[in-house]
Amino acid sequence: MDNHIKIFDTTLRDGEQSPGYSMNKPEKLRLALQLEKLGVDVIEAGFPIASDGDFETVKEIGKIIKKSTVAALCRTRQVDLERAISAVQHAAKPRIHTFIATSDIHLKYKLQQTREQVLESAVKAVEYAKSHCDDVEFSAEDASRSDPEFLTEIFTAVIDAGATTINVPDTVGYALPWEYAELIKTLNQNIPNIDKAVISVHCHNDLGLAVANSLMAVQNGARQIECTVNGIGERAGNASLEEVVMAIETRKNIMNYTTSVNTKEIYPSSQMLAQITGKGVQPNKAIVGDNAFAHEAGIHQHGVLKNPLTYEIMTPESVGLTCNKIVIGKHSGRFALCKKLEELGYFLSKEDLNDVYIKVTKLADEKKVVEDHDLVSIISIMNKTSNSPSHKMASGS
Ligand code: KIV
Ligand code: ZN
Repeated sequence: MDNHIKIFDTTLRDGEQSPGYSMNKPEKLRLALQLEKLGVDVIEAGFPIASDGDFETVKEIGKIIKKSTVAALCRTRQVDLERAISAVQHAAKPRIHTFIATSDIHLKYKLQQTREQVLESAVKAVEYAKSHCDDVEFSAEDASRSDPEFLTEIFTAVIDAGATTINVPDTVGYALPWEYAELIKTLNQNIPNIDKAVISVHCHNDLGLAVANSLMAVQNGARQIECTVNGIGERAGNASLEEVVMAIETRKNIMNYTTSVNTKEIYPSSQMLAQITGKGVQPNKAIVGDNAFAHEAGIHQHGVLKNPLTYEIMTPESVGLTCNKIVIGKHSGRFALCKKLEELGYFLSKEDLNDVYIKVTKLADEKKVVEDHDLVSIISIMNKTSNSPSHKMASGS
């Protein structure tokens, strides 16, 4: 089995659906270009039936993106399909992504349709999409709460109708990792024509398990992961692209898979999204949060400054950050303070360093984090109050 994992980015579609994350056309075009630079295989550009703006944006993205596949989402309705097909008509690599719910709860309360009706709509939609576009993805919405036998039946039928990717969403973020793994394994074993399609996963993060579920799915045969930058998306979000990719990268000893993502573009992509939406990333967010590579505890700082491998499982440079962050706070030690001061151009004697250290710990008690400008002002005040010029603290660079 091929070990390459396709990264399907849905920041511009599922991500944008979350409150406060809507983007206008120029912003989406900018982000789409960055996603292409990031190296994602597929950019889901939008849901063209949702609005004229969405339609126009998907169309423009289709025109400017050359390397990544550009996908348009649609329900299985004829009008939706036509709109999606028209939106990606100029794309170098277009994909139609059509979906319908398959769980009994959705059939009963949302669609008010029988399984037979849903199966018929799915097959018809895929056949129609296929007659306009070679690359067709079918999603069984709420798959993780659907009957696996019905899923097997519908996926078999849509692959026969021309689907090249079948997606198994955990739409409501309900699945547990071993349960989701079992579902993917069952589908992989029981769909007779599965060799003609790629299994995709699309996990929501309601229980904080989206990344774990996606990785378990890969271990059981999935070869496409749907995810978003900074993990944005409906409710608690989607699987976070940076976490999925860096888990695969960092644990190659256990998961021997590749992605086409240029990991050095992860941090710039995250920052661009935050800047466009005006929504910052939580500081402790894995990979891209402000504190992801920050060290405050003295013991950690000492270790990291001697050898980053002591407390870092990946380098900040590998995700596009220029360096780790030594944060001076009340837990910091003299060693880290000395390095920080050297970075700022101050090369102090042991005695002077000790004086600064005492002042810094006092200040840290009051304001938690001591910023660079605080250090500079501590030193300049000490220089001003020192009577003897020979005791002035040396500023090296
Ligand atoms: O969560 C979901 O089920 C979706 C589908 C449209 C793929 O976003
Ligand atoms: Zn979703």
